[in-house]
Amino acid sequence: MRKNQKIITSTLNRRNFITAAGATLAGLSLNNHSQANSATPSIVRDMTAANLRGAFGGESMAYMRYVLWANHAEKDDKPNVARLFRATADAEKVHADNHFVELTEHPGEELVASMAVFGLGSTSDNLQGGIDGEVFEVEEMYPAFLAVAKKQNEKGAIQSFEYALEAEKMHIDLFKKAKQATDRGQDVELGPVRVCDVCGYTIEGDIPDECPICGHSRNHFMSFE
Ligand SMILES: [Fe+2]
Ligand SMILES: [Fe+2]
Repeated sequence: MRKNQKIITSTLNRRNFITAAGATLAGLSLNNHSQANSATPSIVRDMTAANLRGAFGGESMAYMRYVLWANHAEKDDKPNVARLFRATADAEKVHADNHFVELTEHPGEELVASMAVFGLGSTSDNLQGGIDGEVFEVEEMYPAFLAVAKKQNEKGAIQSFEYALEAEKMHIDLFKKAKQATDRGQDVELGPVRVCDVCGYTIEGDIPDECPICGHSRNHFMSFE
């Protein structure tokens, strides 16, 4: 567990989520390896490990997708959209890093199933692709993964999923703002974009004294100006 980090409480949709592993919470088995056992050192249990791997895959592809879409926006004479995509890409890298670290006790090769968004259209289309991917993460993927991690009392994964869930909400808002501009044929008006290198919190404007998601100091913010 990293120091000085606050666990934020997310408002989760309480319906039965279908996880990437294809299980529903209602039918989630907690026996065998998944059974919480106080005599066993805390390790990532199989279903949470699968979810961490899936989230790592999703975040890794989001990083790459945003870099590609940033390059495309640059050619499309939308430098601020390009900057937004690059900042957001770095936030996704933070999330991928966090998920990867939580899998330290699960080394080895795995086939990973992850949600992926494809397409290289207009900058406006690409921003819509970004919005669609972020909405999926905020409304379906991370709430489901978080619910399983909580049921399995996986504190590290809970923190990693909560960090990502909260940060992705900011990405939706920023992409929507940018899409409104590109739909009018303009680049977005955009101040400096700041990204917390601990949790991926992303904002436009001044660096906060303390990250509202993870509580780390302003020294942990990357700037995209
Ligand atoms: Fe995101
Ligand atoms: Fe943070």
